[in-house]
Amino acid sequence: MDMVESSKAEINGQSYSVLNSDTRRLSSMLRDDLGLTGTKIGCNQGDCGSCSVIMDGEVVCSCLVPVGQAAQSSVTTVEGLEHNAQLGQALMAAFLRHQAVQCGFCMPAFLVTAAALLGKNPHPTRDEVAGALTGVLCRCTGYAKVIDAILDVSGNQSPCTDKHYPDAGNSVGAAITRLDGAGKMNGTELFGADGGSRDSLILRAIRCPYHSAAFEFGDLDAYRRKTPGLVAILTAKDIPGRNLHGVAGVFADQPVLSEKHARHRGEGIALLAFDGWEHSTIDLSDFPVSWTEFPPQMTVESSLDDQARQLHDSRPDNILIKGRVERGDVDAALTAAHHVVSGRFSTQFVEHAYLEPEAGWAYPEGDDIVVHSCTQAPHAHRADLARILGIPDERVRVVPTAVGGGFGGKLDLTTQPFLVLAAWHLRRPVKMVYDRAESIATSTKRHPAQMASRIAADKNGKITAIDFFGDFNTGAYASWGTAVANRVPVHAGSAYFVPNYRARTRAIHTHVTPSGAFRGFGVPQAIICQEQLIDTLARDLGIDPLKFRLNNALAAGDALVTGQVLPDSVGIVPCLQALRPRWDKARADAAAYNKANSFRKRGIGLAAMMYGCGNTAMSNPSTIRCGVRRDGTVVLHQARSTPDRARIRSSRKSSPMRSASP
Ligand code: FES
Ligand code: FES
Repeated sequence: MDMVESSKAEINGQSYSVLNSDTRRLSSMLRDDLGLTGTKIGCNQGDCGSCSVIMDGEVVCSCLVPVGQAAQSSVTTVEGLEHNAQLGQALMAAFLRHQAVQCGFCMPAFLVTAAALLGKNPHPTRDEVAGALTGVLCRCTGYAKVIDAILDVSGNQSPCTDKHYPDAGNSVGAAITRLDGAGKMNGTELFGADGGSRDSLILRAIRCPYHSAAFEFGDLDAYRRKTPGLVAILTAKDIPGRNLHGVAGVFADQPVLSEKHARHRGEGIALLAFDGWEHSTIDLSDFPVSWTEFPPQMTVESSLDDQARQLHDSRPDNILIKGRVERGDVDAALTAAHHVVSGRFSTQFVEHAYLEPEAGWAYPEGDDIVVHSCTQAPHAHRADLARILGIPDERVRVVPTAVGGGFGGKLDLTTQPFLVLAAWHLRRPVKMVYDRAESIATSTKRHPAQMASRIAADKNGKITAIDFFGDFNTGAYASWGTAVANRVPVHAGSAYFVPNYRARTRAIHTHVTPSGAFRGFGVPQAIICQEQLIDTLARDLGIDPLKFRLNNALAAGDALVTGQVLPDSVGIVPCLQALRPRWDKARADAAAYNKANSFRKRGIGLAAMMYGCGNTAMSNPSTIRCGVRRDGTVVLHQARSTPDRARIRSSRKSSPMRSASP
């Protein structure tokens, strides 16, 4: 008879029986069996440290520790730490006080790491704290405030990075405590992968392995019958409403599941629902689908070529949209200029690399569907999800979870269409969590850009003209390509007054993962181009780069390249002036270093930019509702980005609160 050996593991002070032979990840046991979701999963391969726990006094990545190895060990997660009044709560309070918590996804890992460090070394130096934290990645806060907070608890005083703010009280500018900060640290604030009922079906997508390919399914029923735990296979045929979504209104072009051919690698073609995590992790390489691969167009040049295939019937030459802003007589100003510089620049894809992979859960509720997910755009998502299901908006409820970093990448739909589709058909709770590879392969990226620009100046160093052109690789679907192509021409004049200006852009479709929103909607790419030319111009004219920028910086009363006149609060000149002492010192230091070193050289630089808020080239409607309850509390509802006048009118009749601004 086989003997199954088990032992006790102590987790947060409680004893649990574990099988010595259990090879599952400790992180799975903590999260899935015990519900200790303060331990996060960012990569599941030992890179990010989000899953850090303390095991017998040492910080370990729980995603790399087999459950069996925890036998006869003591494990502390952030939930256990919270009950340590001396240390855990002191750390959490300090993290909040020092504004260390942003998205918060990494915070439990920082806390357990800090607790382990202070347990061994109660008074570490700043370098020792920094060294201890190297195993935990943070994509939002950075590390300075986290280190400040830990040193604060240790009693080793560290200058608070917020010391220039008013100390306390209600003064404008005072650092205020995040309302959701405590929950993000102690694990009670749920992220996309943290919720959902235990009996949820687990979803996985079958995705195209080629950049461009047609496909045909084999016998899906037979595959379902022979695959243990596979409850259902859904394809494009199962979409009850519109098999399209997209953030840019009439440009919506992205299928939830491709129908016959896929336009980029990683595009979903089928959705599989499994009964439990243990079944969902199977190898799917025998899924019955045959592919016909086509030569892909991966670059702007290849998609603009005369022989190029058209990705979308309604978009000749693979051009999604063109943008243009023009002012004055650029050609005459370039001809008459004292000096002109020109250059060509290109930038590459950039991955958002938020620590939290896309995730969520959904369930039917009466005739409605409820979806909880990490999203940056719940209102827009609700409208798209309702269209996908072919039901009124009111029958879809989107509940945003905490978002473990987004940076624009969670403005687009990811898991949500799959979740609502499966919950709709199967009438059961469902859950979907991308792994890191799936997240990177399928989520939007920063648009790669190819740019050419000319900038002219007079002999006094005043900019007289800019002529800018940029092509942006927007990938297979529109996503935010329309915003990028329209926003860049508005901003390619950077932070300067430009009397003669021409900026043209194009967003070009290719067979790559769609490019989308990423902090700045293409403007950072344009500024990389323009600011290097500004440096060249200043150098050619023998003018200090900071002085050149000050000479040309926008001021109150100036008109932007679009003609919009700036009001009286324009801060770029004082901002540049404040740099003067540091700039002069840095230049002097670099010159001295370079004189002393023949091989290694040191360079310094500065750049300016201007950036506007709101939707470019679109109306920017928004509404808030506020009111006063009988007990005197003021209630404010905000964040509705699309006015729904009928709904507002009806809410006026039924709600004791009134719309402040319809
Ligand atoms: Fe374990 Fe990243 S190191 S989830
Ligand atoms: Fe650290 Fe977001 S606050 S990853």
